[in-house]
Amino acid sequence: MAEHTFGGSWTEDKLTRLRKYLEAYTVIFTKNPKARLLKRIYVDAFAGSGVRSSGDHSDESQDGLLFEPEGEALGFMKGSVRVALEIDPPFDQYVFIEKDPVFAGELNDLRSDYPELANRIEIRNGDANTVLVKWTRDTSWHGQRAVVFLDPYGMQVEWPTIEAIAQTEAIDLWLLFPLGQGVNRLLTCQGPPPNAWADRLTTMFGTESWRETFYRRSDQLGLFSDEPRLEKDATFDSIMRFFLDRLDSVFEMVAPNPLILRNSRNSPIFGLCFAASNKKGAPTAVRIAKDLLKD
Ligand SMILES: C[S@@+](CC[C@H](N)C(=O)[O-])C[C@H]1O[C@@H](n2cnc3c(N)ncnc32)[C@H](O)[C@@H]1O
Repeated sequence: MAEHTFGGSWTEDKLTRLRKYLEAYTVIFTKNPKARLLKRIYVDAFAGSGVRSSGDHSDESQDGLLFEPEGEALGFMKGSVRVALEIDPPFDQYVFIEKDPVFAGELNDLRSDYPELANRIEIRNGDANTVLVKWTRDTSWHGQRAVVFLDPYGMQVEWPTIEAIAQTEAIDLWLLFPLGQGVNRLLTCQGPPPNAWADRLTTMFGTESWRETFYRRSDQLGLFSDEPRLEKDATFDSIMRFFLDRLDSVFEMVAPNPLILRNSRNSPIFGLCFAASNKKGAPTAVRIAKDLLKD
């Protein structure tokens, strides 16, 4: 089994909320006579390997924001994919997307652990953004609903993916937003970030307006010019609100209370967010999620 180490104690918290939502979701869809006719799909787009060896990896270097974390392993636990496969009653289809071929191979092997679900499981070895944008557009959403879980290490989710999910009007989205782990650190204090980081922020937010929102003119002039300097004017709270507003611009409804996940030094690292795209289902979905997201 390939070792997959990520997260910290907050990871368990995140997966508990996801599990409770999936339980509530399947209950609604099996009890309601009309909803029972709909096909239900669970999509895990940063699926991992199915298990994880846990440690606290929330203090990673700058590279860890965009790439892979490293750290001390503490023990094996179920990952989101197994959490979803153990929901009873089960989903009609499971789509697991994973970029790492070794992890994708391990996901394939899960079929033998869940033989009764084996023919419902589909593994896509590729980039979550590319696969999801195509899958949402190629799927006929009439008679189908889905829950999509986006659980990246850092800044990997791209705005067109979020937009494509919202446009289906059939998907409930759970998303781990890289609040302190990514965005806050990329918003450098002494003026706007270098181009590569700025591009990453624009790709994640789907707009350049983060520049005016998070930078203001300083009273001091720049060292080598008469132009006033720009300095950071962002807090965890304002960053989170900005992202919720972005979600709100494309989804039917968004839970207003993301769960702020903190590292062992009590510093915010992620915001667990929920958004619903189906007009009819959104009020119930958001009411349940809002309750589950309470601190
Ligand atoms: C935080 S882990 C997800 C863990 C998983 N949700 C769980 O609970 O076990 C992030 C995963 O996303 C994968 N990944 C990173 N970038 C990706 C991308 N662009 N597309 C798909 N998977 C990606 C990594 O290989 C890693 O397995």
